[in-house]
Amino acid sequence: MQIPARIGGRAVSADEWIEVLSPYDGAPVARVPALGADHVAEAVAAAAAALERGDFPQHRRAEVLERAAELLAERTEEFAVTIAREAGKPIRDARGEAARCVDTLRFSAVEARKLGGEVIPMDASASGAGRLGFALRHPIGVVAAISPFNFPLNLVAHKLGPAIAAGCPVVLKPAELTPVSAMRLVDLLVEAGLPADWISVVTGTGADAGMPLVAHPGPALVTFTGSVAVGRRIQDTAPRKRVLLELGSNAPVIVEPDADLDRVISAVRLGGFSYSGQSCISTQRVLVSHEIYEKLLDGLRAAVATLVVGDPLAEGTEVGPLISGAAAERVESWLAAARAAGADVTGGVRRGTLLTPAVVADPPRHLDVYRQEVFGPVITVTPYADLDEAIALANDSDFGLQAGIFTADIGAALRAARELAFGGVLINQVPTFRADQQPYGGLRDAGNTREGPAYAVNEMTELRFVTVSA
Ligand code: SIN
Repeated sequence: MQIPARIGGRAVSADEWIEVLSPYDGAPVARVPALGADHVAEAVAAAAAALERGDFPQHRRAEVLERAAELLAERTEEFAVTIAREAGKPIRDARGEAARCVDTLRFSAVEARKLGGEVIPMDASASGAGRLGFALRHPIGVVAAISPFNFPLNLVAHKLGPAIAAGCPVVLKPAELTPVSAMRLVDLLVEAGLPADWISVVTGTGADAGMPLVAHPGPALVTFTGSVAVGRRIQDTAPRKRVLLELGSNAPVIVEPDADLDRVISAVRLGGFSYSGQSCISTQRVLVSHEIYEKLLDGLRAAVATLVVGDPLAEGTEVGPLISGAAAERVESWLAAARAAGADVTGGVRRGTLLTPAVVADPPRHLDVYRQEVFGPVITVTPYADLDEAIALANDSDFGLQAGIFTADIGAALRAARELAFGGVLINQVPTFRADQQPYGGLRDAGNTREGPAYAVNEMTELRFVTVSA
């Protein structure tokens, strides 16, 4: 099936096409055009013209987002199958993503309805006395959105929904490996009433379509989710734009000696291995009190060995493929390095893009499998002496997205909430949880922004101060 791109309401083909293949068995999913800088320029011009027209008021934007949520709610199964096919995400997780996307659109609609400024208490300073002051929220301009492969629907909605709510036309460059869900979502938004020139989709590689979009002077803002390396390149390429980055992590969870171990095991079994660990908040570093280390390690190994690995379209599958052979080989090589360094590794056997879930016991802390973002079905388990050390270990990371702690002690939990230097701290949960209305984002190399429609809308608008003197 060939799917044309969309530029300013026009269906666009190309001489060259990108084959979208299932990462599980290589089955063809679709072909999308391989576009480049000329198409990017055309898309940005269409978006700028749409912005200039200014004929898409707040109530219409809210109605479009509400209608899109309704349409998606009727079609979640269709979208889930597309996600499972192009991204290799197990169908039950793909259904979860499609359902979450309905929420994301609904929360975006709420922001479109309530978008407004605030009254400034001018009388609070002598110089302002006697004046009326207020701030309006004004769309920042054209938004360039670059989305990742791992949540090919919902992370696109986290960019498009707030942009529409804010009143910003968008040029979207979806992930090269998983563009189909994004293109279907855009079709659905247009069906829901989005003016066709408010959204363009430029399919192609990062080099041919993504970077020209970043470098183009037209967009006022770039919103990107993906790797640290590409995020930094985008910042360097567009130093004068607002650049919103949601990057990586190697999320830790602390397990105190008073934790409910059955609860911990079942949470880590999912949090470390759902979608083969290909989520920025996948539980990677399990930090365990030395008092319960052996017991928890045994329990985790036994639980992880029961995970069902295989075809993402099969109902019982819990762990599907990695996104590519190269990704699976990279993770396999990191596990080999851990074994060579003397760590005790269970699992981690590769067959094509499938990798059996791996548990790495107490690896040296300089290893990639501990220090980098694995983005694969791997957890490390590390003992600690006391909560001081646990918090220090958790914070000793280039990434600060989300962290978890399991404890029955409210004092320990609140201390963790204060001292863990992360964008989110989850108490009695693994860090692998996100509600679509929460502020989501991290510190250090994890990024520089918060997504969640209410927060993204703030980023996508400028405050315009107005004062009135009698
Ligand atoms: C991500 O990988 O950053 C997204 C995680 C999520 O939305 O659950």
